[in-house]
Amino acid sequence: MPRHVAIIMDGNGRWAKQRFMPRVAGHKRGVSAVRETVKACGDLGIEYLTLFAFSSENWRRPADEVSVLMQLFVGALENEVAKLNDNKVRFKVVGDLAPFDARIRELIARGEDLTKDHTKLTLTVAANYGGRWDILQAANRAQKEKLQQTRASQAIDAPEASPILEFAEITETELAQHLSMAYAPEPDLFIRTGGEERISNFLLWQLAYTEFHFTQELWPDFGRESLLKAIDSYRQRERRFGRTSEQLVSSKTTADANVA
Ligand code: IPE
Ligand code: IPE
Ligand code: MG
Repeated sequence: MPRHVAIIMDGNGRWAKQRFMPRVAGHKRGVSAVRETVKACGDLGIEYLTLFAFSSENWRRPADEVSVLMQLFVGALENEVAKLNDNKVRFKVVGDLAPFDARIRELIARGEDLTKDHTKLTLTVAANYGGRWDILQAANRAQKEKLQQTRASQAIDAPEASPILEFAEITETELAQHLSMAYAPEPDLFIRTGGEERISNFLLWQLAYTEFHFTQELWPDFGRESLLKAIDSYRQRERRFGRTSEQLVSSKTTADANVA
C-alpha cells in the first residue's frame, strides 16, 4: 500500500462541458469526488493524501471562475473541516497563502489547529501552490537559517578572527527540511485525472522517485474504484531507486531469511 498518494484533480471543466453545463458545475461535483477519495484513503489505511486544488498559475483563469473557486474553497472549509475532525483526519494546507482573503486564511488556521493531533490520515490541500515557489522559499529559508547558525558558532569559537560570513552552503537534507510538506514522506503514488500527462508545477522536488499513474477519467467521476485501480497499477511496479532488479531480489531474499 502506498503511504502517500498525491493527486492532480483535473478535468472538472470538461466534465461540465460534456453535459452542456457551466464549468462551475464541474468544480462543484469535484468537491464530492474529494469527499469520496478522502473516505476511501481512510478506509485503505493510506497515511497521507495530497490534493492539488489551485495552482499558482490558476489565477490566470477568468476572474469569475477564480471567484467561484474561492467561494467553493470557503464553503468546503466551513462545512467539511468539522467532519474531517470527527473522522480523525489531520488537515493541512500548503502554498503561498498571502494572496487569499483574511477569511480564508483564518478558516485554514482554525482547521489546521483543530485537527493537528490526528495521526491516522493527513489530508493536505495545495492551494496557490507551485513546485518552483516551494523549492525557492525552502532554499531561501534554509540559507538564512544556516547563515545565522554559522555566524553564531563563529562568534563563539573565534570572535575576533572570523570575517563576517555572507554565504553558507546548504545541503539537500537542509533544503528538504524547509519544503512546505516537510512533515510528510515523499509521495509513493502520483495520480493525474483528465488525460493530461504533465506535472503542471506540482510537487517538483518530492516527485523525483514517485510512481506516476495517468487516467483519462475526469475528476468528478473519480472515486474509490478509480483509486483502487491506481493502487493496483502501483503494486505491479518495481521501485528500483537507481539499483538493479537483481539487487532488489537479493536484498528481499536476505530480508525474508532474516525474518524466518
Ligand atoms: C481542475 O479542473 C480544477 C482546477 C484546476 C481548479 P479544470 O478546471 O482544470 O478542468 P479542465 O482541465 O478545464 O477540464
Ligand atoms: C493543474 O490543473 C492544477 C490543478 C488541478 C489545481 P490545470 O488544469 O490548471 O493544469 P494545466 O493548465 O492543464 O497544465
Ligand atoms: Mg485542467
